This record gives sequence, structure tokens and C-alpha cells, in this order.
Amino acid sequence: MRITVIGTGYVGLVTGASLAYLGHQAVCVDVNEEKIKLLKSGVMPLWEPGLESMIRDVELQGRLDYSTDVSASVPVSDAVFLTLGTPSSESGEVDLSALWSVVRSIAPMLHRDTLLIIKSTVPAGTCEQIEAYLHQQFPASASIAVAHNPEFLRQGSAVRDFLAPDRLVFGASRPEAHHRLEEIYAAIQSPVIKCGLREAELIKCASNAFLAMKISYANMMSDLCDALGISVDAVAEGMGLDRRIGSEFLRAGAGYGGSCFPKDLRALMALAAKEHLDMELLRATEAINRGRVQVICRRLEGVLGTLGDKQITIYGLAFKPNTDDTREAPALRICSMLQEAGARVRAYDPVVAGLPDPQVDVAIDMYEAADGSDCVVIVTDWDQFNRLDWGRLRQVMRSPYIFDARNMLDIAVMAENCKRYGLHYLSLGR
Ligand code: UGA
Repeated sequence: MRITVIGTGYVGLVTGASLAYLGHQAVCVDVNEEKIKLLKSGVMPLWEPGLESMIRDVELQGRLDYSTDVSASVPVSDAVFLTLGTPSSESGEVDLSALWSVVRSIAPMLHRDTLLIIKSTVPAGTCEQIEAYLHQQFPASASIAVAHNPEFLRQGSAVRDFLAPDRLVFGASRPEAHHRLEEIYAAIQSPVIKCGLREAELIKCASNAFLAMKISYANMMSDLCDALGISVDAVAEGMGLDRRIGSEFLRAGAGYGGSCFPKDLRALMALAAKEHLDMELLRATEAINRGRVQVICRRLEGVLGTLGDKQITIYGLAFKPNTDDTREAPALRICSMLQEAGARVRAYDPVVAGLPDPQVDVAIDMYEAADGSDCVVIVTDWDQFNRLDWGRLRQVMRSPYIFDARNMLDIAVMAENCKRYGLHYLSLGR
């Protein structure tokens, strides 16, 4: 099939490249000329494991192209995917302006058999409004169908998540739209949920909010385990083996960040508020997540006394490993809070080279970042921190504290390292 993907962020690029990999003829379109120029010259505008090699592969086979111009590919496409960003506005509601602006501009170009597929995360009701708009504005195109096909791509494993998803969600108001989506994804063997547009929209936000809730639940238990002097690892493992609960997203730590969970939680609460419903569980989820920063800073104060004259090293700035994304990353708020308490903060991240705000000195070497430090705080669970040379680290540090705020290090191995190198290891709820 001929497919246009509009919006070449990480979702759009992964979608375009993966659809080409599945055998379709794809064009990725973006208004950002610089980005399209980079892609055409073989430079990746973002870092996502496995994406570059897949792109090289499908480019060689002539199945993936890039453009800044929608008018060449949209009129001849069997399907048009919209993968525009839908950020939070001040009020917590979703800002749909980029999405609507593209809908308006491509509407006259849509062929009557083209399926318009919204992949962007949108509040329930948006796709019905888009479908109604197309029908009102262009009676001749009354057969243009709109579908919602939410993405469940995790940054860092987006290619794998696209090609082998837990489920595919096809939301549409007409059977022919469901059928076209089945054709597009025919090569993927995953369970398919066929439902209405609003159900599909809610499946996406409700799933993200549930995962965020699981993380906050684990963090709440972690605080209780700290108070009781027991291990949250054992509690989470024991809970997770119950198949009704599942073991993923139960890791206690610095809390969730990124462009999706915080935004989708706010969007769900804003949507519910319009229906005079209070999403209490989600409010608590958010409050617990925000409170992680205080838990971490109080713990640091507990061991270091005052933070005023201390030097703290932050290991990891990205909101999670295998991405360079720092949007709503817990590390940003931890750095700000430490600086407000008077601490000097230095940081190291394997891929994030600097931050605009807060202003933090980012070293290019792990050991240099820890030079003269009173405590190294691991805020992102990069695998690289499992292979630290603890003896060398202790030598450059002023005080012996290692605070693993992601519970990523093996507690028995760290007990050994503490004995051998005179380190003092802290983590959360264990
Ligand atoms: C999330 C969802 O997992 C995807 O399914 C969804 O498609 C995507 O949002 C989206 O809406 O586009 P992502 O934000 O890339 O994906 O990251 P996750 O891997 O879900 O991690 C989110 C945050 O939770 C990270 O900060 C991570 O460190 C934290 N986390 C995760 C924990 O604190 N504990 C855990 O046990 C797991």
C-alpha cells in the first residue's frame, strides 16, 4: 500500500520505517525542512535503538522516502497516518492545534478511498470530531473514513514494540476502515481489538495511566518498606508473580517522567472533569510521583546532614535509559531541589550532554563527574552503571555515599563493594 506518515517525530519515523519494513511504500512528511534534509542525507534526527539499520535497509529497497510537501503523496495514498505531537496546554488539556492544522490542510487532498488514521494520542471524542469535520466541509468526500490506531511504543524499544506489539487497537466507526487497518498490519501476528473511535482513544490513555498508577503504587509500598525495614524487591516480586498483577512496572525508584505518562494523566483528569468526575486515583498517582523528589532529597539530608556545602553527582538525566529525552525527567526536579538547598550539582549521562534548565554542569566522564563528590545519586537506570569501577569511584569521591534511586544495583554485590572499598550504599525501600 502507499502510505503517508505526517509528523516525523519518534513515533512518525518509527511508524514510517516499520510500515516500509512490512512491505508498504511509505513517505514520511514533516514541516521541519532541516529534519527532512538530515534524513535525506542519511543523518538520524533522533536516537532510537534498531531504527537506523532498519531505515538503511528499507531505503535501499526504495520503500521509504521523506518530504516537506504533503501535496505530492497525500492524494495518491491508500492511507495517511497522522503522528503529530499533542502536548499538554497550561490547563492540563491537550493542545490539538498541530493536529487540526494538518487535518484542515490535507482535507481537500484526500482521495475518497483514503483512510485517515490518527496515531497521535488524543482525548476521547477527537477523532469523531475530525470525521464530522471532513463530512461537513467536503460533502463530495463523504466516504473518507477516519480511524484511530493508538501507538504503544516505548522510547528505547519502539521498533520492537511496533513490529511485535502486545495488541493492535483499531478504532473506527465503519467496517471498511477496520478492514483497511487489518490489511496494513496483515504481517503482524498480534491480537487485534476492533472497537469504536472513542474506545480506542480511551484505551491508550487508560493504559498509560494504569502503568503510571502501578509505578506510584510500588513507590508507595517502597516508603512503607523503608519504614518497616523490609525489602520492596521481595514484596514486588511476590506480587508480580500473580498473573492478575504482573511483574512489570512495579520497580520503585525516582518515579516516572517522559512526554507520555505525565501528559496522559493530566489529559484524562481534564477529560473527566468536563464530565464532573474526579479521577481520585490519578490525582494520588501524580502526587506520589511528584513526592519522589522530596523523598530522595530528605534521604540525602538524612545521611549528609545539611546539603548546603555538599557536592552531589547525578548519574542519569534522561527520563529513562536508552533515550536522550529529558522531558519531565525526575533528574531535572532533583537537580533543582538540590540546588535550591544550596548543594553544588554535577551530572553525567551517557547520551544527554547538557540541559538548558536547570543549569547543571554536565561532565563527559563518569569519574570526572564524581570528583570531590559527597554522594553519587543514580537517577536513570542506564546499564552502564552496573559496570562502574567502584574502587576508582571511591578514590575520586570526598564522601563514600552511593544512592541508587532506581534500585538498579544488585544489593548483595553492593554489600561486597561496600566492604571492599569503604562505600556506603543506599537505595529505596530495601
Ligand atoms: C510509555 C508507554 O510505556 C508506551 O506504551 C506508550 O506508547 C508511550 O508511553 C506513549 O504514550 O507514547 P515511554 O514514556 O517511552 O512509554 O516510557 P516507559 O518505558 O513506559 O517508562 C515511563 C517512565 O516510567 C520512565 O521514567 C521509567 O523510568 C518509569 N518506570 C518504568 C518506573 O519508574 N518503574 C517501572 O517499573 C517502570
